[in-house]
Amino acid sequence: MCGIFARVATEPVAETLIEGLKRLEYRGYDSAGIATLEDGGISRVCAVGKVERLEAAVRNTAPHGHIGIAHTRWATHGAPSERNAHPHMAPGVAVVHNGIVENHRELRTSLSERGAQFKSETDSEVIPWLISSRMQEGLAPMEAIRQAGDDMHGSFAIAAISEKEPDLLRALRRGSPLAVAHGEAGGLLASDPNALAGLAREAIMLEDGDSAEISREGIQILDARGQKAMRQSVRVDEHAAAFQPGPYVHHMLREIHEQPEVVSRILEAYPSAGSILGALSFDFRRVNRVTLVACGTSYYAACLARRWFQEIAGIHAEVAIASEYRYEPLASWQPGEVAIVISQSGETADTVGAMQRLKSRSIPVLALVNQPASTIGREADCMLPLLAGPEIGVASTKAFTAQLTVLAQVVLAAAQRRGQPGIGLLRASLHKVVDSIKALLHNEPAVMDVAERIQQAQSAVFVGRGSLFPVAMEGALKLKEISYIHAEGFAAGELKHGPIALIDSQTPVIALASSGPLYEKTASNIREIAARGGRIVLVGDRTALLGLSDVSMQALTVPHCGEFVQPILSTIPLQLLAYHVAVLRGLDVDRPRNLAKSVTVE
Ligand code: AGP
Repeated sequence: MCGIFARVATEPVAETLIEGLKRLEYRGYDSAGIATLEDGGISRVCAVGKVERLEAAVRNTAPHGHIGIAHTRWATHGAPSERNAHPHMAPGVAVVHNGIVENHRELRTSLSERGAQFKSETDSEVIPWLISSRMQEGLAPMEAIRQAGDDMHGSFAIAAISEKEPDLLRALRRGSPLAVAHGEAGGLLASDPNALAGLAREAIMLEDGDSAEISREGIQILDARGQKAMRQSVRVDEHAAAFQPGPYVHHMLREIHEQPEVVSRILEAYPSAGSILGALSFDFRRVNRVTLVACGTSYYAACLARRWFQEIAGIHAEVAIASEYRYEPLASWQPGEVAIVISQSGETADTVGAMQRLKSRSIPVLALVNQPASTIGREADCMLPLLAGPEIGVASTKAFTAQLTVLAQVVLAAAQRRGQPGIGLLRASLHKVVDSIKALLHNEPAVMDVAERIQQAQSAVFVGRGSLFPVAMEGALKLKEISYIHAEGFAAGELKHGPIALIDSQTPVIALASSGPLYEKTASNIREIAARGGRIVLVGDRTALLGLSDVSMQALTVPHCGEFVQPILSTIPLQLLAYHVAVLRGLDVDRPRNLAKSVTVE
């Protein structure tokens, strides 16, 4: 997902722009650029690859302008190149853009007929030309930007500077988030408010249709109708440290090791059923169906929570992949249905779209997000923050554990509200998770041994049954997205229906097993795999490790704290395994190829 950063100040801004882009790198990108106003003219510097390369190019040009815009680009239209990098320009105007201009072809044609000269293959380049042509028609810059927004279809966030207004940053938001701020550092704008850490204590999240004028003196916001608007402020997370991995080599490793602290924070923040139920816009006593909707890792959290809702709260539950839910034929709505959308970023376009469809069907929506000020956090009927802290690594780890922990609390609260039995024991097992995760992290050397053994594999298989099946799928996603080893997660009982044909002596099989009603069946499935030469890496409690020691090439112990929390604990070694395999393969763990931290396009 692209990143936008901009500043207007009483001093040169280029250095701040570069630092701002470094704080947005986690979003994923393949090129970057800045534009500053230099002695009345706009100067543009872009580079393909990492921000460090842009930094070197900027150093060569030594810009001294006091106003500028900056951008990290995650390519959608046009390959990564200096030509396609943002900012894009038209006479007297420079623009950076996050999102997609869906009608860019028609706009490009009509603008070309009016003399526009395009240099890139991008959809974004139509934006400065739209603004410039409106200004040539006599519109003031703010009106010109608002009119350009009306001319465009799609979701976008844009920031612009113009030679006519050397002291003003202009911004427009439709779909993609934008935060604006003003303080001692002057006027600021960023895609993520936390990128303003150290520069501003509070930021304002623009709402859809808002346009803003940011100067050294302050901020003016107009709403979609062009009326002056006041917007909610959010505290800028002063954990600027979140943008530095600190003592760890990578953000991902730091975030894996932060998980005990994250779980503790959640258990303290939601100490009782009341702390959950009080935040809801519906009563679980009148709920007869829960639909959980998400993408990627968040979807696997939904898959696990589906089982919990049925087993513990006694409520029928369904899961849906957000990109599918948006368009699939649905039965008519039934009274008593509620939905839970889960998203770390709160800006995933597919999940935003699914939420909008749920709301259009009058289904109450509870959002579990790590960014409360995000689109999903603000537009849901009710919201529970994940409290994981900024997650910078593209591969989600602590946010996933936070999702499971908050979902567990929601299920227990629903169960209590509905008078279900056995809640006390389950809540007690949840409070064992923190120390158990610490023990699992302490066992990291054993995981590194396994990583050594499987790092050259061409593919890998993950298997689990019951509540460990979603964990198997999540473990496969972790491995494939950062090590680029093809990996698939299967229900252990499903292998014999075809996938077992994949098994040979070269294929590591990460098998999740723990004592419980499904253990014996899982053990049989694992033995079927071993009988065909599969290299079993067992991830399980003592019962499993003892019972399957004769067929396991290696084993990773998971403390047994009860079936309810076993999936949360079993995830930890899989996160570490993916991390260490990727490191051994010399890959960019925090910014894997082709991926973005939050996918704000369809
Ligand atoms: C997880 O490791 C991936 N980065 C990805 O699957 C992610 O979970 C998915 O894109 C959903 O993101 P969200 O939680 O921010 O909505």
